[in-house]
Amino acid sequence: MPDQSSERHSDSHRPNEPRPLLPQPDHPIAFLKGFLERPKQVGSIIPSSRWMERRITRTAELASARVVIELGPGTGGTTRALLQAMRPDARLLAIEINPSFCDLLRETIDDPRLIVHEGSAAEIQDALTKHELDAPDVVLSGIPFSTMPRSLGLAILHSVRSSLKPGGRFVAYQFRDVVHTLGKRVFGPASIQLELFNVPPMRVYRWDIAADIAADIAPEKASDRATGGHASPSGRGRRAR
Ligand SMILES: C[S@@+](CC[C@H](N)C(=O)[O-])C[C@H]1O[C@@H](n2cnc3c(N)ncnc32)[C@H](O)[C@@H]1O
Repeated sequence: MPDQSSERHSDSHRPNEPRPLLPQPDHPIAFLKGFLERPKQVGSIIPSSRWMERRITRTAELASARVVIELGPGTGGTTRALLQAMRPDARLLAIEINPSFCDLLRETIDDPRLIVHEGSAAEIQDALTKHELDAPDVVLSGIPFSTMPRSLGLAILHSVRSSLKPGGRFVAYQFRDVVHTLGKRVFGPASIQLELFNVPPMRVYRWDIAADIAADIAPEKASDRATGGHASPSGRGRRAR
């Protein structure tokens, strides 16, 4: 859907030069069109603001990451921000379910570190295998958990959990708290921030995976062991902040 091909550009080649904080989203018409065609899947009528982009890149601490996965890049505003914050030798695997958005991303972002993969966030391992990438240090998600079946949301979160490298992190941003409700079952409680300079204001959740695999037991199983099957409020609790 290259309806804005005149916007073709890539500012991802200028690392350490933050995108200006203009309240102007990327490819707003293509995004709105995508929303009108698939409202539940896209989940928002405009892309994230520059403030949101900045918050998620900082929260994800991308400078040390070699493999980064973005779930639901949409029209690419967040994707460009991630690329700008990433190392020159890192790779970004952007997994997007909407073929029109995938075409737009391929046509408008010219960066050898980016791989655009058309597919579902529930199949991260398949995408990693296909593109011969190592386990990610960071997974970021902008997908709308509140408008998808709960079973799919959980499948996506388990896909994130099983793909992440020990010591890695998962950052998800959402208006509602569904991703946190489901995420607590898979990862334990998150650290939470609020970004007010976005329409609508957005919550940003971060989960950290233990660097020690042996200590990294699923929250339900950890609480079963500790309480003989009764729920424990602590779970694994890998909270960084
Ligand atoms: C709210 S938009 C976020 C776009 C962009 N990251 C931003 O913040 O502006 C959500 C995106 O998730 C994509 N999406 C929804 N479900 C998905 C799934 N199961 N797998 C991959 N992408 C999905 C949608 O097509 C859409 O591009």
